[in-house]
Amino acid sequence: MDFASTCAVVTGGESGIGKACALALGRAHASVALTWFEDEAAAAAVIAEINAAGGKAIARQADVSSEADVEALFTAAEAVFGPVRMLINSAGLNMTGIPFQDMSLAQFDRVLRADLHGPFLTCRRLVRGLERNEGGARIVNISSIHERAPRAGGADYDSAKGGLAQLTTTLALELAPRGIAVNAVAPGMILTPMNQSALDDPGELERKAAAIPWGRAGRPEEVADLVLYLLSPAADYITGATVVIDGALSLTVAQGA
Ligand SMILES: NC(=O)c1ccc[n+]([C@@H]2O[C@H](COP(=O)([O-])OP(=O)(O)OC[C@H]3O[C@@H](n4cnc5c(N)ncnc54)[C@H](O)[C@@H]3O)[C@@H](O)[C@H]2O)c1
Repeated sequence: MDFASTCAVVTGGESGIGKACALALGRAHASVALTWFEDEAAAAAVIAEINAAGGKAIARQADVSSEADVEALFTAAEAVFGPVRMLINSAGLNMTGIPFQDMSLAQFDRVLRADLHGPFLTCRRLVRGLERNEGGARIVNISSIHERAPRAGGADYDSAKGGLAQLTTTLALELAPRGIAVNAVAPGMILTPMNQSALDDPGELERKAAAIPWGRAGRPEEVADLVLYLLSPAADYITGATVVIDGALSLTVAQGA
């Protein structure tokens, strides 16, 4: 794939799925603006890897739930690379696991802000940024199979990802006349720091992999391959879709009834 210097913003680009997307976009000659939240050194390493492969990239610290941070991110990306025509919303927090009756509003809100307010702000800024520019754009939101499949203890995460699913379809409808495609990718279990305990404990990884029909967890690079397909011209007629990538994990509900 060749994205020929098209500017791509990747949130959460210092880690996991976002990092894999940023590296893949860099290899495919996009100009990448990625965000980091807490780990500047990790973002610098991603930039160095993209540069070493001949690509162009910048990194900005941003809390995606901050309107000011999102504005500063897009302003910087546009100044260096021109209009942002690709956006991958990967930044996010996992569920707290706190039982619903014990969950404070602040705990609920923290996940909602990262996983739902963030994509709202970045998508809106991309669209506003294109107002004076011809041509379309592509947005891919990294959702989760838990946008549909609930987990006890996941009132925060499942609500945020369910909301992200509806944000994706609503924007797809509203932005189609402007040539802005909006899709989501819903991963199952992917081996990133979000699953650090399974990465650290072979026993846990084996137990969890055994519950996945495909027999293993996914890799962030496999999610990135799918994201790049959705950003590519080959996916031109796809918008408003959620593509599940989970080794059939989400199909195992209600078995044996
Ligand atoms: N790993 C999985 O199994 C899995 C499964 C389904 C969905 N997802 C989704 O994929 C996305 C990426 O997760 P990952 O697995 O790469 O995990 P990760 O922890 O490696 O990456 C998440 C990134 O988001 C950043 N982040 C968190 N809150 C932020 C905020 N408010 N502002 C800016 N950045 C913030 C973190 O710093 C980190 O870089 C998330 O949206 C997650 O919900 C992951």
